[in-house]
Amino acid sequence: AASRPLLAIETSCDDTACAILAYDGTILAEGVLSQNDHAILGGVVPEIAARAHLDALPALVQSVLDKAALTLQDIDTFAGTTGPGLIGGLIVGSSYAKGLALALGRPFIAVNHIEGHVLTARLPSLKADLQFPFLTMLVSGGHCQCISVEQTGQYVRLGGTIDDAAGEAFDKVAKMLGLGWPGGPALEKLAQEGRADAFALPRPLKGRDGCDFSFSGLKTAVSRLIEPLGSGALPRQFAADVAASFQQAVADVMADRAEHALAMAPNATALVVAGGVAANRTLRCALETVADRHGIPFIAPPLRLCTDNAVMIGWAALERLHAGEHPNEIDVAARPRWP
Ligand code: KG4
Ligand code: ZN
Repeated sequence: AASRPLLAIETSCDDTACAILAYDGTILAEGVLSQNDHAILGGVVPEIAARAHLDALPALVQSVLDKAALTLQDIDTFAGTTGPGLIGGLIVGSSYAKGLALALGRPFIAVNHIEGHVLTARLPSLKADLQFPFLTMLVSGGHCQCISVEQTGQYVRLGGTIDDAAGEAFDKVAKMLGLGWPGGPALEKLAQEGRADAFALPRPLKGRDGCDFSFSGLKTAVSRLIEPLGSGALPRQFAADVAASFQQAVADVMADRAEHALAMAPNATALVVAGGVAANRTLRCALETVADRHGIPFIAPPLRLCTDNAVMIGWAALERLHAGEHPNEIDVAARPRWP
């Protein structure tokens, strides 16, 4: 299985990740280092993140090589995220991968971070046997889009957020409730003690044509519930009820948007969810119900492959090799935006 291994690096946000995949997509080794500093600071500070990637990469790459029982000389191809994301981190990680590729005389493949998220569900080890075209709901801290995946390299963006990303909304509401950062997981936990119908919160854009998202109105509605209680700790039951009601509103909106997206992409063979917010069970349930209604499978990759990781970057590069391309993109520069 270890033939023609590819080494991939992902550094587009605050996670430093490295993975080695065999040519057929078998995961030989993987590692992710999360930058805990940002939890203390309550968000990602780009300059700190870029420096932390640089500090973390040498030892991380070596440990992943060790886990795969390989040396750098064994690596056939290098891949790195060149966008979209925080420019400092993108430059650090992609330059690191390019440097290794140049030193060893191997090709470098420039990977789009979103493409990585979107193609993950086709990893052979997931055994989902996912065929094109399929519909992906990408919901993370930085992104919130509905994408029809037609082929490797052929994506139709059916809709996206017009303000906050879903994960961002979870993080901001969690902050209002006095929970830590990132807030999504903490909010989901607290919501278990609350009633989803405790507060009637808005469902922005629900029922509207297309599949755009909006979360700022929902966020404002939550802040209006909380403000009258003044500063200081919120009563636990109240906070849990707010968390459960908010989470249900997001899930309802997502289900409605997925429904519209499937109407726009009627040939989709499956409904896929990707990104960190895909960890949320209420959301998964809501999307699964939509897929059931359309008689197509619902696919949610394991959580470690939904959040930022380098396996997805390596796999997106391999998909291009499998499609017969022979990219050597050492000259492709990192870019913060890459539509
Ligand atoms: O994909 P990801 O790891 O990083 C980005 O590319 O943004 O997503 C992180 C986001 C954060 O906003 C986090 O709060 C959210 O995913 N998240 C969750 C849950 N776990 C992570 N949101 C809701 N429920 C969860 N269980
Ligand atoms: Zn991501």
